[in-house]
Amino acid sequence: MHIFYSRRRIDNMSCVAKTAIAISLGLFLSSAWAGGKFTPEQLKAQFYYDLGPSEIDVSGYPKDQQENYKVFKRTCSQCHTLARPVNNPLIQRADWDLYVSRMHVRTKVRPGTSISRKDARRVLNFLTYDSKMRKIDHKADFEAKTKELLKLFEEVKKERLRMQIEQDKKKIKESAPYTGTP
Ligand code: HEC
Repeated sequence: MHIFYSRRRIDNMSCVAKTAIAISLGLFLSSAWAGGKFTPEQLKAQFYYDLGPSEIDVSGYPKDQQENYKVFKRTCSQCHTLARPVNNPLIQRADWDLYVSRMHVRTKVRPGTSISRKDARRVLNFLTYDSKMRKIDHKADFEAKTKELLKLFEEVKKERLRMQIEQDKKKIKESAPYTGTP
């Protein structure tokens, strides 16, 4: 950069100004890209299934399952997003039953949350029906989406590591004594 500037006759200010603008625009765009690669929500993902959609199109489901879906939405979004159960690979009712019980135990240590026995049953009915629809009857679709989410999760983890390293570097710089050498 220095060589580039010194070779130039500085009487051509507008050209220098243009270059400066181009450089700062480039820096701005690259920093915007780095920051905007993933949303803060995505960066917080604990499981790959947290990265998928947090709703289900139930317009083709029977009326009672549409009602159960409302209960599921209300019950299972109290502590994490609905994406967690929506994109989870569980299928069998017995498996879901274990998870719903586990979530019920969680409500005991998290003030302000609850899962009633009646709601748990409706959630279980919904999850069993929905798992059949999306994960058995449309197995290939669901598997393709799962693959995408797994790949995305790997990228998110890499980005988190990159951010962590950057932060650690900053900390080291801040704590290093000033020695006068650049
Ligand atoms: C009281 C808070 C709370 C509520 C309510 C809750 N969850 Fe969770 N859920 C958690 C926590 C905490 C975790 C992560 C730790 C774990 O796996 O237990 C979790 C994890 C999960 C997982 C991933 C578990 C794994 O290890 O893969 C699934 C699936 C899940 N929840 C489904 C549900 C469903 C379905 C409901 C509604 C019935 C629900 N959750 C309601 C707190 C809650």
